[in-house]
Amino acid sequence: MTNRYAVVLAAGQGTRMKSKLYKVLHPVMGKPMVQHVVDQLNSLALEKVITVVGYGADKVQDVLGEESHFVLQKEQLGTGHAVLQAEELLKDQEGTTIVVCGDTPLLTAETLEALLDHHDNEKAKATVLTAKAPDPTGYGRVVRNNINTVERIVEHKDANEQELTIDEINTGTYCFDNKALFEALQQVSNNNAQGEYYLPDVIEILKQDNEKIGAFQIMNMDETIGVNDRVALAQAEKLMKKRINEQHMRNGVTIIDPDHTYIAPNVQIASDVVIEPGCVLKGETSIGSDAVIGPYTEISDCVIGSETVIRQSVAKNSDIGDRVQIGPFAHIRPEAKIADEVKIGNFVEIKKSTLDQNSKVSHLSYIGDAEVGKRVNIGCGTITVNYDGENKYLTKIEDDAFVGCNSNLIAPVTIGKGAYVAAGSTINKEVPEEALSIARARQTNKEDYVKKIKNGNKE
Ligand code: UD1
Ligand code: CA
Repeated sequence: MTNRYAVVLAAGQGTRMKSKLYKVLHPVMGKPMVQHVVDQLNSLALEKVITVVGYGADKVQDVLGEESHFVLQKEQLGTGHAVLQAEELLKDQEGTTIVVCGDTPLLTAETLEALLDHHDNEKAKATVLTAKAPDPTGYGRVVRNNINTVERIVEHKDANEQELTIDEINTGTYCFDNKALFEALQQVSNNNAQGEYYLPDVIEILKQDNEKIGAFQIMNMDETIGVNDRVALAQAEKLMKKRINEQHMRNGVTIIDPDHTYIAPNVQIASDVVIEPGCVLKGETSIGSDAVIGPYTEISDCVIGSETVIRQSVAKNSDIGDRVQIGPFAHIRPEAKIADEVKIGNFVEIKKSTLDQNSKVSHLSYIGDAEVGKRVNIGCGTITVNYDGENKYLTKIEDDAFVGCNSNLIAPVTIGKGAYVAAGSTINKEVPEEALSIARARQTNKEDYVKKIKNGNKE
């Protein structure tokens, strides 16, 4: 096999997005478009992936990090000029170079592999990935000659009326013989409607040198849509969502309403999980088998065990064990560690706290900066008073403790093993093991008080 290289074009501003965010960084299902492209390339065995950066170069480099080499295109003079920036790194190499646009997030490694195979089998100098477009507006059109081979590509803005009727489009993805590519690029001019150095002009240049040009037509155009504006972005989002959801369903996940379920590309879901409608699963989340998530639940960067049920809740950056019950309407904030069989009920907020096995916080509580042991029961309305306006302090509630309803636990404080806290207490000192602590005003009953006032008023 010859050496293979890839160049990703990602230097454009993306004027049509009308956005502060550089085009290729716009996320599709939570992952920047250019990252989708580079991830697919990296799953092929390539010698080198080079991303051409320009607008927002620093940000694009930050996102891709080690996954790509970078070259800078200082001025955005066109896609041909963009590829030329990789000349220093590539021009002496023998082999095949794939060029991909950073704004085609749906392109798959399988298609790129098929394109490479076609290119090799045909022994072509250049092969274009083409597609039949139901609406080719905006795309470059593939002009074929009378024996049906590709002659050249004409940009929408340069096309005549007859060329505009062509529905076979240039997807912006190509394979080139590396040396032929850089030689032909020297001859590309900017004499066209946009005054740009067009990469597709390389096709016509090679063709005129009697080199073999291949075309590989993809059956499903969906995979190759180029995202130039937010209408296309929404289309890409919809297609990516469908692709991801179908993959999970084929792997044994039940998704009740796939049209209204958003699962980011890196989320892992075990079999027999049920995802109810309206869920958004983001980041590096993983979900164990037989869990039930939703309806209407948002989870980011969480590890969730098996048989856990999370309903109408929000959870972020936390570890949640097996057979845990959460919600409805709970908020699990970063750095929560929730062990197996814990129950967290409605209107409970947990932040940076550990809750050990079998503990329960069933209603209306705030647990922040706390260490809660095993089999602890935290009554309705309990609050860990963790913040004095400057610092945060730890609340420890040891195994088997029982905290009565509406207690304030003023941190730093420890409730010892098996201790009881009476309902309505405000605790600011340690409660020893097995003790009962009552920290509230005593009840005084004033007999006949009401009667007296009422009589008084009549007089
Ligand atoms: C391009 C193709 C068109 C094809 C379409 C497929 C050209 C001239 N046209 O058009 O034939 O149908 O893609 O989606 O190539 N870029 C740079 N530097 C530049 C200009 C662009 O890095 O100087 C990058 C952009 O960031 C983008 C990619 O190249 O990721 C494509 O540029 P874009 O302006 O989107 O080209 P299209 O008009 O879509
Ligand atoms: Ca484009």
